[in-house]
Amino acid sequence: MIGPTLATQKRGLAMLAGENAGVVDHSVDKADSWLMSSPNRLKLGVFGFNLSGGMSPITMADGPPQLRSWDEQEAAARTIDKAGLEAIIPVAKWKGVPGPSRFWDRTYETFTWAAGLAAVTERTHIMVTAHIPVYHPVTAAKMVATVDHIAGGRIGLNTVTGIWEPEFAQFGMNALLDHDKRYEIADEWIEIVKRLWTDDDEFDHDTSYFEFKGAYSSPKPVQRPYPVLMSAGWSPAGQAFACKNSDLLFINLGWAADEAPGKIAAVKEKLDATGRDIGLWAMAHVVCRDSERAARDVIKAYADDRGDWETAAALLDNVSRTSRSMPGVHESMQASRESDEALRANPALRNLVEHCGATPLIGTPERVVEQMAELADMGINGLALQFLDYGADLDQFVEQLLPEMVKAGLRVDPA
Ligand SMILES: Cc1cc2nc3c(=O)[nH]c(=O)nc-3n(C[C@H](O)[C@H](O)[C@H](O)COP(=O)(O)O)c2cc1C
Repeated sequence: MIGPTLATQKRGLAMLAGENAGVVDHSVDKADSWLMSSPNRLKLGVFGFNLSGGMSPITMADGPPQLRSWDEQEAAARTIDKAGLEAIIPVAKWKGVPGPSRFWDRTYETFTWAAGLAAVTERTHIMVTAHIPVYHPVTAAKMVATVDHIAGGRIGLNTVTGIWEPEFAQFGMNALLDHDKRYEIADEWIEIVKRLWTDDDEFDHDTSYFEFKGAYSSPKPVQRPYPVLMSAGWSPAGQAFACKNSDLLFINLGWAADEAPGKIAAVKEKLDATGRDIGLWAMAHVVCRDSERAARDVIKAYADDRGDWETAAALLDNVSRTSRSMPGVHESMQASRESDEALRANPALRNLVEHCGATPLIGTPERVVEQMAELADMGINGLALQFLDYGADLDQFVEQLLPEMVKAGLRVDPA
């Protein structure tokens, strides 16, 4: 058994006096969690199985991959936990993208989803991906603390500022206002949340973004000083936010494979300059088969033959307009609109249809692990894995690829 289990964590805990007389809460140092302290050179999480369509906007002949049932969600979480992977990361999504594939049409809400999975896992960190504009900081602080108690100190907060305008219109808000202002608000939001997690006294707050009186939250989270913080979004403003606030920065490199080494080096330099140990995580899509040819045939079958390119194009148009971590992509999409052929040749769009923004890891188990090693050499500390099928492909990953990673020195032997 590697790393502390929930039971051992609880036994070994320093019992702290609670905020209320007579109440004793247990606590763990987040730095000691499996996510933050595992000896694995390349940490692993599984990303996006709380959505229908998984993480590829495809139209299967019999409809897109469906949102896995709750039993299947639990089964995937148990597999991940038992295999010693460090994290499970959901996508925050309130509404899907119109089109034949009904991409992201059905999605589990991330806080309640995390609570359910926390109860059936022991060691893996369950991240809660939260849209900052949607939650008042008092609500978010309280909910994270509550799920952190359910999980025995294994909840992480993955903050996102949002990307898909139509999902916010139903809240009656224009969440995707000026890009950098989103991060200004996010910065203030997370400061308030941290204070609610650590301050025993009530406090007032009055700025143009948040105004309230007597803010207070108890119980405090199990993790001290507060839960692991991840942020997804890596424009200059997103990187500055991570440098100041996050333990982990989560990025996507998929459409720009050639530029990956330079981009990773530039981000690492900024993270290292903080003097804090901030992990760099990237999205990765695993398509592993017995031969490279077979893996590429799988991709061709779902992307070229059955891909929902129109929906993907609408999504990418929208997303690349509101993001600043995909320079040039919006302009390239305008130019590609002239023909179907040009659209399919657009590298960012092709990556979205084939791998949903992730770095592709394609081929035999050995080849996939070689590509993982290349990413680790470039400075990536963790991969958030996506699969076409979070049942069979995840099982294959655990059975065939994890042992290869151990051989390659990327992971320690779980035994
Ligand atoms: C790896 C990664 C994961 C993301 N996950 C989500 C998500 O689950 N839900 C969402 O609405 N936006 C998500 N986003 C979008 C970001 O929250 C952010 O709004 C977007 O990347 C634009 O910010 P940027 O210009 O700083 O990158 C994600 C972004 C990245 C890079």
